[in-house]
Amino acid sequence: MTKVLLANIDAPGQRKIEKYRERGGYRALEKALQMEQSAVIEEVKTSGLRGRGGAGFPTGMKWSFVPRNTGKPTFLLCNADESEPGTFKDRLLLERDPHLLIEGMAIAAYALDCHLSYIYMRGEFGFLTETVESALEEAYKAGLLGPSVMGRDYALDMHLHLGQGAYICGEETSLIESLEGNRGYPRIKPPFPAVSGFLASPTVVNNVETLAALPWIITNGGSAYAAMGTEKSKGTKLFSVSGHINKPGTYEVELGYPLMDFINNESGGMRSGHKLKAVIPGGSSVPVLTASECEGVLLDYESLLKAGSMLGSGGMIVLDETTRMPETLSVIADFYAHESCGQCTPCREGTGWAAKILRNLITGKGKKSDIDLLLKIADMMEGKTICPLADADVMPIRSFVTKFRSEFESLCST
Ligand SMILES: Cc1cc2nc3c(=O)[nH]c(=O)nc-3n(C[C@H](O)[C@H](O)[C@H](O)COP(=O)(O)O)c2cc1C
Ligand code: SF4
Repeated sequence: MTKVLLANIDAPGQRKIEKYRERGGYRALEKALQMEQSAVIEEVKTSGLRGRGGAGFPTGMKWSFVPRNTGKPTFLLCNADESEPGTFKDRLLLERDPHLLIEGMAIAAYALDCHLSYIYMRGEFGFLTETVESALEEAYKAGLLGPSVMGRDYALDMHLHLGQGAYICGEETSLIESLEGNRGYPRIKPPFPAVSGFLASPTVVNNVETLAALPWIITNGGSAYAAMGTEKSKGTKLFSVSGHINKPGTYEVELGYPLMDFINNESGGMRSGHKLKAVIPGGSSVPVLTASECEGVLLDYESLLKAGSMLGSGGMIVLDETTRMPETLSVIADFYAHESCGQCTPCREGTGWAAKILRNLITGKGKKSDIDLLLKIADMMEGKTICPLADADVMPIRSFVTKFRSEFESLCST
């Protein structure tokens, strides 16, 4: 299977610019710089690449929303906040192949006529600062960043910015607020960042994995990328898989790959010969699938939606028959209650109440009526807030409670 993102992930010395270049690195940037900026955008549109941060929005289309000649600078921000529970795919790229990201960002920046870009990396990735900073330094020294990229009349600066450990700063407008030095409160959209983002200027926010796919697309052409995957979900995708499987890790497969093959082959099958109970396919904020719902499901945006879940960030959590679903949900609900920024009443209060009710249920202090109360709270949160964090709590609550209701009931004596 073609590897777009992980082709050299285990290659020795890949972090260093010499090795990266020996293996063909920065040739895609050279090619892009010889193309018209609009032609680079067209190539990305042809590829069908969709944002890998969670929402799956078409990348080329997002770029084409950026207004030109506004008199304001255009900014490119790489979202390396990666805080969704179960998700650890971007980390692998940052840690092992940072030049792939830098090259992808330089291609995107050129296409967007952007001269200043930032990598916004979650605070907990502080241990990767040196890796990313030294890759940036190497790129500057090699003339791949700076006043004249590859000797051309094109200037690009790129900096690393470390967040402070708030999940909400992965939401793009919150990330922008945080980068501006403000508290990470999400903004009401519209205006969308493409029109008014960082410093009220046109801004593109893209995920690490999205940007890292660009060198391959420019080298091989958008059509070659579009030839992989399914009709609407093109290319390859990273899935970071954890839970009750034998080989947790990050794997790259073509979109449309069968979910059960991914569990049995890439993930090494269920641990200790246990039976599969449930799968959270795309990070903790997507609906859980029961084992029987997983049969025949393909790993692509449409197939997972049809099955009642979502592809999300590709952070897959596999749960076996020993899992106590109310306890798992309680852990997830605690996370969202902790990470709510508190701006919207339904989210601030709802996430907190849901977490408290679940804690009562799992410690034997709950009542059967609490189960419906949980669902009522979920209804009152959904779609009523500034950003989708509240919905990210609703999806697991509703799916866990409705699909595994008897387990919740068995915890209540009244
Ligand atoms: C609560 C919340 C957290 C998010 N966290 C991340 C994140 O850690 N990384 C990421 O790339 N996108 C995250 N997103 C999605 C971003 O808002 C945005 O859609 C994405 O960075 C766009 O990049 P893409 O088009 O390349 O996917 C989050 C969204 C929400 C609502
Ligand atoms: S939904 Fe929650 S996290 Fe998002 S802005 Fe409102 S309070 Fe903050």
